[in-house]
Amino acid sequence: MNVEKLRRDFPIFERKIRGQNIVYLDSACMTLRPNCVIDKIKEYYEKYPACAGRSSHVLANEVTEKYNNSRRTLSKFIGAKTPEEIIFTKNTTEGINLIKNSLNFEKGDVVLTTDKEHNSNLIPWQILREKGVTHKIVQSNEDLTFNLENYEKKLKEGNVKLVSMVHTSNLDGVTNPAREIVNIAHDFGALVLLDGAQSIPSLEFNVKKMDVDFLAFSGHKLCGPSGTGVLYGKKELLEKLNPFLVGGDTVAQSTYEDHEFLPIPEKFEAGLQNYAGIIALGEATNYLLRIGKNKIEKHETNLNSFITEKLNEFDSIELIGPSDPKLRGSIFSFNVKGMNAHDVALMLSNLRNVCVRSGQHCVHSWFNAHKLEGSVRASFYLYNTLEDIQIFIETLKRVLVLK
Ligand code: ALA
Repeated sequence: MNVEKLRRDFPIFERKIRGQNIVYLDSACMTLRPNCVIDKIKEYYEKYPACAGRSSHVLANEVTEKYNNSRRTLSKFIGAKTPEEIIFTKNTTEGINLIKNSLNFEKGDVVLTTDKEHNSNLIPWQILREKGVTHKIVQSNEDLTFNLENYEKKLKEGNVKLVSMVHTSNLDGVTNPAREIVNIAHDFGALVLLDGAQSIPSLEFNVKKMDVDFLAFSGHKLCGPSGTGVLYGKKELLEKLNPFLVGGDTVAQSTYEDHEFLPIPEKFEAGLQNYAGIIALGEATNYLLRIGKNKIEKHETNLNSFITEKLNEFDSIELIGPSDPKLRGSIFSFNVKGMNAHDVALMLSNLRNVCVRSGQHCVHSWFNAHKLEGSVRASFYLYNTLEDIQIFIETLKRVLVLK
């Protein structure tokens, strides 16, 4: 993978702030966008700014074709059986909420998550308590890796209708064993929804091989536009679900009294859609397919190994997650002893345009349980160089001197 060449695809790298380039280490929050994605958005508004699946004029037909193409690309991207299994959403959060609202949860059902869930995969299940649904949590190992024994124990307690788990944690980069999670859940008759927001951008993932029932992910974490996402579901399961957002373009017919829903995926895509975004999302996934996710994953692990080795010698730096960088993918989450995480992030930004995220990363529950105020999180993607990491380390050393 020629990173220097790839960087030329990203116009942001030409930008200087206070006379210096940007060192972008916040891709776990949002990735940068290449020209091909930006151009697609522009192309939509300039050339075919119409809506798909409704009017039959020349512009509408063009959008419909491109929108459907995007669905085919996304289907190929995750190895779905058919493009109808791809529901366009605005993000991972919406995908999870769709399942929360559409799966027929009943009193006594149990939803199982890990102890490191993003609020998007926690709050929906807390709300379901109102229906008599119980939310149970699988505790991680001491080093924050997944504990299969604890997992199986929870399933043995019975009534688990849905296992809804983060695949790769946005807190520490740990990837949970999806195959085992799915296989064991199915042995107990439970369905599995994976939050793939952090994993799908970098890991090879085939929904058919994994046999996962539902998978939610976002466009903005894989070089696509913000406000785009996907919920994958097995065809036979999606067909049984009722949509929770209803209205325009979800029905084949309606009378004053009744309605008949369209088949999947339309019945889940209510109202006018983000056509520019979805078409550009297809372009983003094609871009990643051209690079190859195995190369992206390897590159991230190399950067994480480098950073881990260099920062190991600092006693004042406390790492969050397993010590082996290979288990932390593209995330280096840490605290500086005696310093607030936001102060560290602000200093990195002010001293050298180093962009990292600080705080609780929407995983408040884990931080509260561990009595931690937050962490500083550096995260990498395909466009980060060793030089970026060196600048980050040098700037961090300056922060340690100034503290
Ligand atoms: N989930 C996103 C993050 O971790 C917002 O930054």
